[in-house]
Order: sequence, then structure tokens, then C-alpha cells
Amino acid sequence: MKGTFAATLWVAAAMIAAPAWAEGNEARGERLFNQQCKACHTVEKGGASTVGPNLHGLLGRKAGSEGGYQSSDAMKTSGIVWDDKTLADYLKDPKGKVPGTKMVYIGLKQDAQQQDMIAYLKKATQ
Ligand code: HEC
Repeated sequence: MKGTFAATLWVAAAMIAAPAWAEGNEARGERLFNQQCKACHTVEKGGASTVGPNLHGLLGRKAGSEGGYQSSDAMKTSGIVWDDKTLADYLKDPKGKVPGTKMVYIGLKQDAQQQDMIAYLKKATQ
């Protein structure tokens, strides 16, 4: 028991002590995507729009403009063009950035997670 508790503390400390990454890490982003986004999104060219829109060509694209998908009016009229900044804000707090979005997702709260995800999305949605 005592060992488990110590190990838990160690992991928690390691997470807190993790450095702030300037650049996102693709591999970590991919793992996060598979855990937290894949249930609702595909990234590859011609991939299906399912619960959420296919994300191919995301960077530089206007929000709500994926043709094969019925985006919310909130998304379509948001005026957002996806880049590092707008994506980080949206992924951190979807309903804060786009009030009325139908994406039901709590948000990636850590800056490092947002950067990892964006690094992955840049590559995977190209
Ligand atoms: C429960 C399903 C669900 C999950 C989980 C989810 N999304 Fe979404 N996502 C949606 C839906 C639905 C929309 C459409 C929102 C709208 O039109 O208002 C969306 C929209 C988006 C958009 C905007 C696309 C556009 O141009 O309109 C991005 C970017 C996005 N999601 C990324 C992500 C990422 C990255 C994750 C994981 C961190 C994620 N989503 C998790 C359902 C989900």
C-alpha cells in the first residue's frame, strides 16, 4: 500500500514538473487524439464525417466549412479560420470559444496538450 501511494505521488510530481514545451510533440498528440477525438473525427483525405466533421485540410480552413457535414450555425458564423492560435483556444474551451457549438467536449486544459494536439493535426490533416 505504502509503495503504491509513493508511486502515485511520484507520477503526480513528474506530471507537475513536466516542462512547458515550446513545440508540440506529434507522437503525444497522436496518442491524445486516439484517446479523446477519434470517436468523433477522422483526419485523412476523404475520411468520413461522423459525429463531427472530417478534419482533413483543417489548418487554413474556415470553421464550419467541411462540405460533407452539417455544421452548427454557431460554427459557420464564427468567422474563425483555423490556425495555431484559434485551434488552441477552441481545444482548450470549445463552448467558450464558439458559444453554441455542438461539439460536446470538455477541452484540453493544459497548454502542452493543446500544442501536442496541434502538432499532430498539422501533420495528420495535411
Ligand atoms: C463527442 C464527439 C466529439 C469529440 C470527442 C471531439 N469532437 Fe471535435 N467536433 C465534434 C462536433 C459535433 C463538431 C462540430 C461542431 C459544430 O459544428 O458546432 C466538432 C468540431 C470540431 C472542430 C471544428 C471543425 C470545423 O472546421 O468546423 C475541430 C477543429 C475539432 N472538432 C477538433 C477536435 C479535437 C482535436 C478533439 C479532441 C481533442 C475533438 N474535436 C473531440 C464532436 C467531437
